[in-house]
Amino acid sequence: MSDFKIYRSYAKINLYLDVICRRDDGYHDIETIFQTVSLSDTLRVRPLDSRIELTCSAPEAGTIDDNLVYRAAQLLRSECGCVLGAGMELEKEIPVAAGLAGGSGDAAAALIALNDLWALDLSEEQLRALALQLGSDVPYCLNGGTMAATGRGEIMEKLSALPETWFVLLHPLIRVSTPSAYQHPRLGLSEESPIDGKTPSFRTALHDFQSGELSSLLYNRMENAVFTMYPELRELKKRLVESGCSGALMSGSGPTLFGICADEEEAERIAKTFPDVEHSVVRSVDNGVVTME
Ligand code: C5P
Repeated sequence: MSDFKIYRSYAKINLYLDVICRRDDGYHDIETIFQTVSLSDTLRVRPLDSRIELTCSAPEAGTIDDNLVYRAAQLLRSECGCVLGAGMELEKEIPVAAGLAGGSGDAAAALIALNDLWALDLSEEQLRALALQLGSDVPYCLNGGTMAATGRGEIMEKLSALPETWFVLLHPLIRVSTPSAYQHPRLGLSEESPIDGKTPSFRTALHDFQSGELSSLLYNRMENAVFTMYPELRELKKRLVESGCSGALMSGSGPTLFGICADEEEAERIAKTFPDVEHSVVRSVDNGVVTME
């Protein structure tokens, strides 16, 4: 019998994403609605004397030392004074650097897996604090589901779960640098000030979300900046709507675009109109990381 324990981490999309202001620490305050979808990576973890070993199925994810799973393991060991090891195998399905928080989800899976494997007994709050050291989206990825978030994305408020919704995701072969998207002059930071932590536009978006008006809340301030750098993305978004999606948007800093579909059959039909672009058909899920039996 294998001594691996298996974890699945889901990709996220942003149904709404506004960038409010640049902060003193170099990051930006954002307002977003996160949603996990059924595209996932798999992390297998087993005990190992004192070494951290990691293999990754996707060479494009970069070197092992830079991999967020490896960095999560090192961070846990140094923060907890732990000398135990782990053997880990990461199987990637979520495209790398795509605006889907794939790497962040892998890091969240590693934190949960190693907290368990090494019996560290860290609370959810402690895990969230470590997660934020690894990346702005990692705290959300620990939980997943439908979440409103502010700050760097770590101040979260759970929303009622989205009724099962089908999406077509387009994965153009473009690499967008997240820092350059945040710093692009065309970003034009929000001129609204948050009142009690939220801007009026975000309140309207949350209201639209609660009323089930998904297509009307779709917004991503980064689209303009990223579409200026890669005009073909604007064309693909237009094609999603022309093909029958009730709304379409870029996720995070891109390049992934998603379109909302009436049901699975419609999503499969629309996906077939994109033979020229890598794509996936996914549904909304209510989890971030799941332990497989
Ligand atoms: O947090 P993460 O490592 O994913 O962020 C990558 C980069 O994106 C940061 O170095 C920063 O330039 C930018 N960023 C930002 N504000 C955020 C999240 C990310 O400026 N809230």
